[in-house]
Amino acid sequence: MVSRWIACLIILLAAFVQRHAGLTSHSLHHHGAPYRPLEEGDSKPELVVRVHEEVVLACDSDAQLTWKHNGKTVQRNSVYHLTTDTLRIFRVGPQEEGLWQCEERDPKSKELLATRAVWIVIMDAPKGSYLTAEGKGKVGPWFNIKENTALRIRCVVEGGRPSPSSFEWWLQTPDGELDSLANYSTGNNLQLDKISRQLHNCTVSCSVSHVALPTPLNASTKLNITYSPSFVISRLPGFGFPLYEGMAVSLKCDVDSNPQASHRWMKDDGDPPVPQTKDGFLNFTSISREHIGWYKCSAQHSLGTFASSGYYLNVRLCACFCLLFPLRRRGGSQSESIPPNGLVIMLHKLTIPRRPWLASSLSFLSLSSAMLIGGREQPRGHYHQS
Ligand SMILES: *[C@@H]1O[C@H](CO)[C@@H](O)[C@H](O)[C@H]1NC(C)=O
Ligand SMILES: *[C@@H]1O[C@H](CO)[C@@H](O)[C@H](O)[C@H]1NC(C)=O
Ligand SMILES: *[C@@H]1O[C@H](CO)[C@@H](O)[C@H](O)[C@H]1NC(C)=O
Ligand SMILES: *[C@@H]1O[C@H](CO)[C@@H](O)[C@H](O)[C@H]1NC(C)=O
Ligand SMILES: *[C@@H]1O[C@H](CO)[C@@H](O)[C@H](O)[C@H]1NC(C)=O
Repeated sequence: MVSRWIACLIILLAAFVQRHAGLTSHSLHHHGAPYRPLEEGDSKPELVVRVHEEVVLACDSDAQLTWKHNGKTVQRNSVYHLTTDTLRIFRVGPQEEGLWQCEERDPKSKELLATRAVWIVIMDAPKGSYLTAEGKGKVGPWFNIKENTALRIRCVVEGGRPSPSSFEWWLQTPDGELDSLANYSTGNNLQLDKISRQLHNCTVSCSVSHVALPTPLNASTKLNITYSPSFVISRLPGFGFPLYEGMAVSLKCDVDSNPQASHRWMKDDGDPPVPQTKDGFLNFTSISREHIGWYKCSAQHSLGTFASSGYYLNVRLCACFCLLFPLRRRGGSQSESIPPNGLVIMLHKLTIPRRPWLASSLSFLSLSSAMLIGGREQPRGHYHQS
């Protein structure tokens, strides 16, 4: 009964707020008749009004009425206008806050039949809002937290009457995308059980709506998530291309962690054979068989020492370069440099397949029409077709 009555009041209040009307009327209903004094824990019917609002309280009754404000009988004057069953307050101010009652008495016996009550609350906009966290107090612009731990934040509103109508929680990514955190919050409490590194640099905000505010009040903090290093190893030429002795090869190690960690290359758990650069490169200008082995990248971090999985660097000893070029017409010449340890196939009287670099094309070549130059001892020189 009482809750239905309160619902009514809220609808009435909402309608009032929307219209910004200057007049609020309110009917006082029987509150626990027969008469008994209100006790602590009784639900308090509240009438929330703006300051300077005109308020009409109605007490529909055939009995003799006495109006009381905070226990004192109300006298008719320039501020309070009394009719048989209404009390009109022309401009409510802070002095009108509190408990308003109409007492119904039997006209003859003057016996108290019932009393009805309403609390007038003057609407007041909150002064501000901020975030707090257990054990950290008021949260600053950055919120430091470890990956995979729980995030618990509370949104605190300073001042304001009545209580805020809603709290909304939002997550904003560094590129401005907005996601609702409604599923992780209840009222002014936010709880994420396991915070992931993907949320690093995201902004968590609490948006407070209040009847006395035209736009919501916001409080926010940016997540600074400490997370352990993760590694990405890349290679130039890319993985899958065979490496031959003499080639220039680069290994690259990228470490992602917060705070940033510096990388350290290792070969077979020792130092690398060539110096590493600051940006994570291990550059081999001419790779050789001594460089074969297991390589990994390690990083020192506040959470400990971490290492990538191992990468086996293999180097093929014979560089079988197949320079597929036909010797030009008799007398014509062309120069090619032969890689160290290279094996060169020179061709003549052949039509080069459309895509000669495809290994499978080689099967179309007749070796009888080719000349092979190979091995370390091959001299530089001029070769021509006779
Ligand atoms: C909240 O949870 C419900 C049910 O699990 C789901 O359907 C909805 O998409 C979730 N909303 C958001 C914003 O994640
Ligand atoms: C996070 O933000 C800081 C400061 O705004 C910036 O220096 C850093 O690069 C950002 N980190 C990531 C991973 O976006
Ligand atoms: C708070 O945030 C909401 C939505 O993100 C926005 O509409 C509103 O204008 C903000 N209020 C202030 C005071 O910045
Ligand atoms: C973010 O957290 C790291 C520790 O993990 C700290 O070194 C750094 O100063 C913090 N950054 C900010 C902006 O608070
Ligand atoms: C190492 O190799 C990479 C890629 O080949 C190159 O971008 C970088 O400048 C090289 N660094 C040094 C110090 O030679």
